Amino acid sequence: MTEQYVAAIDQGTTSSRCIVFDRHGNVVSVGQREHRQIFPRPGWVEHDAAEIWANVVAVVEEALAAGGLTPDRLAAVGITNQRETTVVWDRRTGEPVHHAIVWQDTRTDRLLDVLGGQEGQDRFRERCGLPLATYFSGPKLRWLLDEVPGLRDRAERGEVLFGTVDAWLVWKLTGRHVTDVTNASRTMLMNLRTLDWDAQILDAMGIPAAVLPEIRSSSEVYGTARGPLEGVPVAAALGDQHAALFGQTCFAPGDVKGTYGTGAFLVLNTGTEPVVSANGLLTTVGYRIGDQPAVYALEGSIAMAGSLVQWLRDNLGMISHAAEIEELAAGVADNGGCYIVPAFSGLFAPHWRSDARGVIAGLTSYVTRAHLARAVLEATAWQTREVVDAMNSDSGIPLTSLKVDGGMVANALLNQTLADVLDLEVVRPVVAETTCLGAAYAAGLAVGYWPDLDSLRANWKRDAAWTPQIDPGTRDREYRNWTKAVRRTFGWVE
Ligand code: G3P
Repeated sequence: MTEQYVAAIDQGTTSSRCIVFDRHGNVVSVGQREHRQIFPRPGWVEHDAAEIWANVVAVVEEALAAGGLTPDRLAAVGITNQRETTVVWDRRTGEPVHHAIVWQDTRTDRLLDVLGGQEGQDRFRERCGLPLATYFSGPKLRWLLDEVPGLRDRAERGEVLFGTVDAWLVWKLTGRHVTDVTNASRTMLMNLRTLDWDAQILDAMGIPAAVLPEIRSSSEVYGTARGPLEGVPVAAALGDQHAALFGQTCFAPGDVKGTYGTGAFLVLNTGTEPVVSANGLLTTVGYRIGDQPAVYALEGSIAMAGSLVQWLRDNLGMISHAAEIEELAAGVADNGGCYIVPAFSGLFAPHWRSDARGVIAGLTSYVTRAHLARAVLEATAWQTREVVDAMNSDSGIPLTSLKVDGGMVANALLNQTLADVLDLEVVRPVVAETTCLGAAYAAGLAVGYWPDLDSLRANWKRDAAWTPQIDPGTRDREYRNWTKAVRRTFGWVE
């Protein structure tokens, strides 16, 4: 019999990828394309959803061609995506009505005060697990309904549809208007316990239910693909961080992973009951397989990690390729007293400060570009430390090890810095494409390509691990300095 495979489409913040996997979770072929980042004003970030769809078609074709495959060799396709990014399109023409508003965009910061009212940032936290922050989709959708002429009327008449990027792609592929429960859990509009849209929040935010997709599990057949994947079951959708949790086989309560891409996102499996954080973490749905109970998670979201390296490359011209940062940073023994806090989109977990903006603190004439490069890597590690401290406080059980993945963990100096700063073992799996792998796993499970979670666990293999090398006194002093620098970002936007 001809061998069958499973494909995953990962529609990320900076690029779209399609990866084909075999039964052992090995990569068979890849297609990848970047899309435009549109910055109309300071703090605004947009994508063209039509360009994203065209790129998805192209990367699927590339991956199939690279593997010498036709769609009939695919048992299923799973989708994973940048979360929270908000798309509204015309139901009849299929054209987006506005550029997508990206998760990093801060245009809703004033609107949040209105939405919070007397109760403030935590007004909806008990119901949806999230604080009011510019990050989430609900306020972005409200902004579009308020600002795009005629859109609210069209929405109420059911002429336009809303979706996060998963819903946009599933609709383009199958014609069905559905979203998965993990993506829905990032909108602020879904009730964490009923796993359905929350009428009270919709009312408070002024969102007409007619625009919303149906919420489905993360692993089931939503429909059959048309176009480049003609005839292939579209059998999974998960937000990218939830997919990475799945791909790292973090199936047991207490399992945790950290993904280092554009941003950095730590996700801790907390089992089948939602845990509301007392320390600035988000409560989110980790995944839901078919009609099994949903598995919840606590998440620490860090807005800027790899994107700070890109900024050094693109805006400051300090390096020509992102990978060069490792060699540059390794040229010095420490940060030379300098700290960079990349609050470009405000600060996310655990602070949730929309009023924060980035700082470089501790500059002296001694500081060189190598020190800055080191401070860039350390910024990712210290932000992770703040999240790990919050996770330890919320769960009462200190983490002992962190599974890492994402483009940035090719950087061994970053991984060593993480181990030093966290005082934890940092472990990297052989297949670092964990996000795609998780979407493929969820799709393969839905169609019986993989029988169960144990068969997925058996595929996970350790590539390398890093253990702490720093002396505790230095770690503590550096953490104090980092904390001082963080405080200097607060209150910049008045
Ligand atoms: O919440 C935003 C996140 O999903 C974006 O992930 O990998 O595109 O940085 P990434």
